[in-house]
Amino acid sequence: MTNGGFKKRTVRDVPLRGKTVLVRADYNVPLTEKGDIADDFRVVSSLPTLEYLIKQECKIVICSHLGRPDGKVDERFTLEPVAERLSKLLKTPVGFVAECVGDKVKQATKRLRGGEVLLLENLRYHAGEEANDADFAKLLAADSAAEYFVQDGFGVVHRAHASTSAITQCLPSVAGLLLEKEYVAIRTSMDHPKPPLVAVLGGAKISDKIAVIEKFVSIADTIVIGGAMANTFLKAKGKPVGKSVHEDGLGGVIDKIYAAAEKKVGEDNIDDFIVLPRDVAVATTMTGAARRMSVMVEDVADDELILDIGPESIARAVSIIEDAKTVVWNGTLGYAEAPQFSHGSARLALALASHPEVMSVIGGGDTADFVLKWDAESGGSFSHVSTGGGASLDLMASAPMPGIDALLDA
Ligand code: 3PG
Repeated sequence: MTNGGFKKRTVRDVPLRGKTVLVRADYNVPLTEKGDIADDFRVVSSLPTLEYLIKQECKIVICSHLGRPDGKVDERFTLEPVAERLSKLLKTPVGFVAECVGDKVKQATKRLRGGEVLLLENLRYHAGEEANDADFAKLLAADSAAEYFVQDGFGVVHRAHASTSAITQCLPSVAGLLLEKEYVAIRTSMDHPKPPLVAVLGGAKISDKIAVIEKFVSIADTIVIGGAMANTFLKAKGKPVGKSVHEDGLGGVIDKIYAAAEKKVGEDNIDDFIVLPRDVAVATTMTGAARRMSVMVEDVADDELILDIGPESIARAVSIIEDAKTVVWNGTLGYAEAPQFSHGSARLALALASHPEVMSVIGGGDTADFVLKWDAESGGSFSHVSTGGGASLDLMASAPMPGIDALLDA
């Protein structure tokens, strides 16, 4: 793999030995109803940077957000359980401070020894975080006594917040190893893919992904569309979608996508370039007991919901994947939370896992959740599973990334 054009300094490029460092992680983990961590992928993914800093005998102060508490203390979003999990994973005590700025933070950081780790309470308990407030960033830097800032919260670098943007005005700021790895994997698959490059796009909404779809129209060899996103395309093409989830009012956007695609591949090849399902799995309810029935897309009834791609479309997607050299997958192909409607996503995951020679980059969010549950190797069956949802989409679409742009240049 090339260096993916990552032109920022990382933890390896600055003299960190023995220094106090403020690390921004993205510990915005899914929680169960009881408040337990439902999935620790983001915590596990933060370990290489922390282990590197421990070896450098740094005094490590970690900050993160969790959920959207809107600038107010909300115990449902405390990071305390993450400190416990991190401690187990690192096999070293991780102190927790029930604040992210103020006296408690000053005292705890004063007691910190080389190689020790502290996790601060949720940054978003303070309105200054999302407001990208310079004074809040100054407090974060001063109270943690940090000499360097390490950005490793890939999932949040598309946001201009105090802990991604303003903080870089207070401390020399470099990338962590997760941020570098995410950037290199995602940008390499977009900028220097081994052809053929196949994009598999699904999930609920087109409106979130317009920039990414347009990008793939220009760089991909084939775009396979599934999930509720396909319903919106099918409806725009005059097919019946019954009661299926879809977005209205996007006819103009879809026309624009098709116009660009036709310009690239010609009208005769368009349906082999933007591959829509030919058959789908439907049910009349979205309950766990709903029975899967396969029908051709022309035959979806008024009272039916499209909840997955059908067997013919699955076979077609798998054969496209088997001919690919690079696959970027963003969005599940159906209502994958229900096993009977996860066939399309599961067969796609299997096709990728069975072809390790194909570079496979899995976007974060629901797609990452699905493959991590599916994969006995915790994501190891794929070249890269991203920890970022919106961040991975924005990076694919070459949108500005305030949390990366502000770091020290290499
Ligand atoms: C995410 O889960 O995508 C990141 O943690 C960012 O969270 P946000 O969308 O609440 O800013």
